[in-house]
Amino acid sequence: MANSEYEYVKREFEFESRLPPSNWIVVRIDGCHFHRFSKIHTFEKPNDESALRLMNACATSMLEKFPDIVFAYGVSDEYSFVFREETEFYQRRESKILSLCVSYFTSMYVMKWKDFFPNKELKEPPYFDGRVVCYPNLKTIRDYLAWRQVDCHINNQYNTCFWLLVKSGKTEKEAQQALKGTFSKDKNELLLQQFQINYDDELAMFRKGSCVYRDKVETKVKTDRSGNPIKRTRLVITVANVDIIGPEFWEKHQYILREEKCRYEYVKKFDINHRIPPCNWTVVSINANQFEQFSLTHSFDKPNDETALRLMNASASLMLELFPDIVFGYGFSNEYSFVFQEKTELYQRQESLILSSCTSCFTSFYMMKWKDFFPNKDLVEPPHFEAELLCYPKQKIGTLSKDKNELLFQQFQLNYNNEPAMFRKGSCTYRQKVEEYVEVEGSENITRERWDVIVEHVDLGMEFWRKRPYILSR
Ligand code: GTP
Ligand code: MG
Repeated sequence: MANSEYEYVKREFEFESRLPPSNWIVVRIDGCHFHRFSKIHTFEKPNDESALRLMNACATSMLEKFPDIVFAYGVSDEYSFVFREETEFYQRRESKILSLCVSYFTSMYVMKWKDFFPNKELKEPPYFDGRVVCYPNLKTIRDYLAWRQVDCHINNQYNTCFWLLVKSGKTEKEAQQALKGTFSKDKNELLLQQFQINYDDELAMFRKGSCVYRDKVETKVKTDRSGNPIKRTRLVITVANVDIIGPEFWEKHQYILREEKCRYEYVKKFDINHRIPPCNWTVVSINANQFEQFSLTHSFDKPNDETALRLMNASASLMLELFPDIVFGYGFSNEYSFVFQEKTELYQRQESLILSSCTSCFTSFYMMKWKDFFPNKDLVEPPHFEAELLCYPKQKIGTLSKDKNELLFQQFQLNYNNEPAMFRKGSCTYRQKVEEYVEVEGSENITRERWDVIVEHVDLGMEFWRKRPYILSR
C-alpha cells in the first residue's frame, strides 16, 4: 500500500511495547464482575463444578490454539497462561498477546457454555480483563504459580467454611464473625467438628485449582513381529488438580518450564530503548550532584557565586552551539534545563541517549571552561551532574524552574530587588538574530541571517514569549 501523507500518525505515535526477551511471559486473565455473573447464572456456592470445568475447557483450547503456551493455572474466575521463555509470539508485542488471549478465551467461554450448562441460558456476555507479567527465571515463575495456588487454598478453605455456616442457618455476618482470626488448622477443625467434613476429601479441583499442560503419554502404536508392543510417547494436553508448590510435579515435568538455549545474538533484544513520544517538548534538566560539598571545597560565595553561575551559563551557551535542536536553556543555582525543539530527531528521540550525551557534554564544558572563570582556583574535586528528561505538552512550556528560584530567595531572606538580576531571575540562554546581510550568489542576492547564542536574566512571563515567538517556533 502506498504511503499517504497521513501515514506518519502510525509511524510516530504507535508504540509497540515489546516484552523483554528470555522471560516467561504470564498472561493472567480474570472474569469481570463475576460476582454478579455467577449470581445471575445461579452458580453453586462457593464452587460451581460446571463453571470451573468450563474455564478448564477454555484453557485447554488456549493450549491447542497457541502452542507457545506451556502451562496454565486456573482458579475461580481467573486463569494464568505461561508462554515459553523464548517465545516469539507476535514478536513479544504486549498488546497483541494480551488482547488475543482475553479475546480467544472469551470466545471459547461463550461457544462452550452450552456444553457445560445445557439447561442454562447465557443471560449476559461474560468478559475478562488481563495483565501481562514477565518472570525472569525459573525460581520466579515457579514462585508465581505457587503464589496463585496458595491463594486458591486460602480462599477455598475460607469459602468452604463460610458457605457451610451460612447454609446451616447463620447469617453472612455471623459466618464472617465466626471465621475472623482463625488459622488454617482451626478451619479444618471447624469443618470436622461441625460438619463432619475432612477438608482433604473435598474435590481436588476446588482445593488445588487446575493445571493445564502437555503431558507425556505412552501409547501403543503397533506390535512387532514377536508380538511385543511398540510404544511412542506423545504430548497430550491434560488437566490435573495437583500440587505445584512443592518440587515433585516440576521434577517429573522438567520439560514444561525448560530454560532454552539460544545463540548469543539474542542479548541484543534486551536493548529496549525508550523513545520520547512525538509532539512533545523534551526538557533535559541537569543538576549538579553533591553541590554543597563541591561549592564548599571551591569556596563559592553563598548563596550565589557569580562566577560559578557565569560558568554554568557559558557551559549552557556551548550546549546550544553543539546541539542545534536545543532552543532554550534556563538555569539558576546548580541546575540548568534545556528545551529541545518539539520535533527534534536527535538520536531518533531515544531517551537514554539524549539524556546521557547532554549530561556528559555539559560536564565536559563545565570542566574545560573552569580555568577561564576561575584562573586562580584549581578544580580539586570532579564536578558531576545528574539529569532527568521531561516531556511537556506545548502549553506547559515556559514555567520551568522559575518558582523554585523565587522560593530559594525567600529562603535566604535577601532583599530581592537589590540583588543582581542573574540571582533573582536566573539565566535564559537562547539564540537571537543579530544581523541580516545580503550575499551575492551568482546573479542572485541571498539574504542570510546570523543567530548568536545570548544569555539574559529576565522575567520569563507571557511578555517574554510574546516578544520572542521565534524561540519555540523556529
Ligand atoms: P472483578 O474481577 O474486579 O471484576 O470482580 P469480580 O466480581 O469478578 O470478583 P473477583 O474476581 O475478585 O472474584 C471472583 C468472584 O467470582 C467471586 O467473588 C465469586 O463471587 C465469583 N465466582 C467465581 N467462581 C465461582 C463459583 O464457582 N461459584 C460462585 N458461586 N461464584 C464464583
Ligand atoms: Mg473477577
